Amino acid sequence: MDTYECIATKLDFAEFGPNEVSPEIVRKVLDAGRLTGSGNNMQHWRFILVHDPQNLKTLAADSTSGKWVAIANFAVIILTNPKLGFHLIDAGRAAQDMQLAAWNYGIASRIFTGIDKSALQKDFGIPSDLQPSAVLGFGYPARKILGKKKRKPLTEIAFSEKYGQAIRL
Ligand SMILES: Cc1cc2nc3c(=O)[nH]c(=O)nc-3n(C[C@H](O)[C@H](O)[C@H](O)COP(=O)(O)O)c2cc1C
Repeated sequence: MDTYECIATKLDFAEFGPNEVSPEIVRKVLDAGRLTGSGNNMQHWRFILVHDPQNLKTLAADSTSGKWVAIANFAVIILTNPKLGFHLIDAGRAAQDMQLAAWNYGIASRIFTGIDKSALQKDFGIPSDLQPSAVLGFGYPARKILGKKKRKPLTEIAFSEKYGQAIRL
C-alpha cells in the first residue's frame, strides 16, 4: 500500500474478529517498532507481545480506557524510560509505525494510554525503571470498516512561515 494511502485510511478500530493473525505479520509489526527512530537512537523501549487470551483479559482489567483489548488477537505493551524527556515521543512514533505496518496487511488496531500502571507493572513483571506508556491491540476487523477520519482542515492547523498566516498550496 502507498504510504500516504496507509496513513489516510487507517483508523483506530477495536472491533476485532476471531481470525488469527499469522506469526509473520506479528513479527513484522514488532519489527516496525524496532526499526523506528528514537531520541539519540537510545532504543530504550521494550515491547511485550501479549497473545494469550487470559493475559489479554488481564491487560483489559489493568486499563481504564482500553477494555476492548480483551478481544484483540494480540497486543503490544510499549515500555519506555521515563527519565528521558522525549520518551513519550519515542513511544508514540513506535506505536504509529506498528499500527501502520499492521494496517498495510489489513490488520486493525487501536491504542490506549489509560493504564493502571502499578497493576500492569506487577501483572507483566515490568521492571521499575520502565514505564508502560501505551498499549496497542491488534486483530482482523470484525466487519468492513466504514468509518471516516474526522479531522480539522489543513487550513486550520497549518500555517505558512508565521503562526496564523494562511497556508497557500
Ligand atoms: C496519545 C493517544 C492516546 C489515546 N488513548 C486512547 C485510549 O486510552 N483509549 C482508546 O480507546 N483510544 C485511545 N486513543 C485513540 C484515539 O481516540 C483515536 O486515535 C482518535 O479518536 C482518532 O481515531 P481515528 O484515527 O480512528 O479517527 C488514543 C490515541 C492517541 C494518539
